[in-house]
Amino acid sequence: PRVVVVNGPNLGRLGVRQPDVYGHQDLAELTRLCGVWGDELGLDVEVRQTDDEAEMISWMHHAVDELTPVVMNPAAFTHYSYALADAAHMVGDAGLPLMEVHISNPASRDEFRKRSVISPVATGTITGLGFFGYRLALEAVAHLMETV
Ligand code: DQA
Repeated sequence: PRVVVVNGPNLGRLGVRQPDVYGHQDLAELTRLCGVWGDELGLDVEVRQTDDEAEMISWMHHAVDELTPVVMNPAAFTHYSYALADAAHMVGDAGLPLMEVHISNPASRDEFRKRSVISPVATGTITGLGFFGYRLALEAVAHLMETV
């Protein structure tokens, strides 16, 4: 089965952006790792990144139309995008897993990061484990899609 891993704004800057918080590995490395983990789990993983809310929303519409489960790091959209939350809700309504991932632990950071508008519509949320969180999210998708 296919899985789409979507990353929101500023995650194209991984490796140079606050390495103390997000680590020294870049998006290319995350993409490579997700491919390796997908192979192990029998999942065909496609990793994407955008700084554009409209594009992220359109990816949710495509996921619904193509019955593709989603792993999502909504980045800053997490904290305020009701439009993305509505789009993510449609993924759940289609019976598809939608796993929310954060590299850092937003609950331990700024006040504005303590609320996620995505969590209420996510199947589950993984935070604070670095890139390993994507592995756990892919495992969760594999489990939920019963491929393992
Ligand atoms: C993030 C946490 C968000 O608060 C932040 O805006 C990001 C990345 C994370 O992966 O830890 O851009 O989603």
